Amino acid sequence: MKNTALQRPQPVRWDHGTLYLLDQTRLPLETVIDPYTTVEQVWDAIRRLKVRGAPAIGIAGAYGLVLAMRSQQHLTHEDFLAQLDTQAAYLDSARPTAVNLHWALQRLLRQARQLHQQPVPEIYQALEQTAIQIHAEDRQLCRRIGDHGRPLIKTGMGILTHCNAGALATAELGTALAPLYLAHEAGVSFRVYADETRPLLQGARLTTWELQQAGIDVTLICDNMAATLMAQDCIDMVIVGTDRVAANGDVANKIGTLGVAILAQYFQIPFYVACPLLHHRLRHPSGEAIVIEERAQDEVTHLGQRRTAPVGMAVRNPAFDVTPHTLVGADHRARNLAASYGETLRAGLWPRSSRR
Ligand code: MRU
Repeated sequence: MKNTALQRPQPVRWDHGTLYLLDQTRLPLETVIDPYTTVEQVWDAIRRLKVRGAPAIGIAGAYGLVLAMRSQQHLTHEDFLAQLDTQAAYLDSARPTAVNLHWALQRLLRQARQLHQQPVPEIYQALEQTAIQIHAEDRQLCRRIGDHGRPLIKTGMGILTHCNAGALATAELGTALAPLYLAHEAGVSFRVYADETRPLLQGARLTTWELQQAGIDVTLICDNMAATLMAQDCIDMVIVGTDRVAANGDVANKIGTLGVAILAQYFQIPFYVACPLLHHRLRHPSGEAIVIEERAQDEVTHLGQRRTAPVGMAVRNPAFDVTPHTLVGADHRARNLAASYGETLRAGLWPRSSRR
């Protein structure tokens, strides 16, 4: 079965002023789409990962800010802008690592300040239009990443991905999964290995689900199986998304990505990071400065409702890690030439034929 847009899930939808989010915490067992009408509901959905993935939380956050301001149109300019700042800071606090949430909210704030001479209801209308535009732009960015990365995908390849950087994480095609969708549409046959991605299982629950729906050959593995599959020559390339890129090309992505990158280096397998240049303001000089979200302990001590660790156990639960730019790229022999992140998808494929 060939992949079509109809078979790709839509995590965020804005319909006549109502926000609809596909509840990703209930996938793959249930497909539930809920309406959202308040900023508090949107904050909670982002925090709980009902909507997740860097681009999707940026889009949802933008719509959340619009929802927050709908009932504030009677305010004076000054009060409207002050309230906008407060609500944006509130939404921004939902998750700290992904650049997109902060970026989208800041874009709306800048726009409102630029329009400060317009009547408040017109500023509100403009904010809504910009949120819709952020959503549409992400769709285009994903397609461009897909077009850019598609030639990397060759028949017979085994491709490892970590977490979910697919349609569920973006406006449509995904970042890391976009080249795979387009290659599949073009008739290229390949196999995706999806890391399950502990502790919240985005790979097991989401990546497998959306690729299976699209008819793409996907095999689920536990995170600790990646090394063995690489040693068995099953993996020809790794492709992941990113939540934030530092100015030196270090990339923050879902916890576990660093381990995969180190393995890829050891086994000399190309390691690609799929991301839009546009979104990343490169505010941090290196990955060390990126704020890593630390999440609740019960995500590690429990599997679903079931406790899997002793009561009182000390736990760490960083949601992301940072992969140094030196591990990103196609030619590991040239690693010290520092493949900048802008080159990650432009870099040529590691020059060897498929080993399978
Ligand atoms: O915690 P999550 O599920 O929001 O983490 C998502 C990721 O780490 C993705 O890989 C990243 O956002 C890139 S998405 C296109």
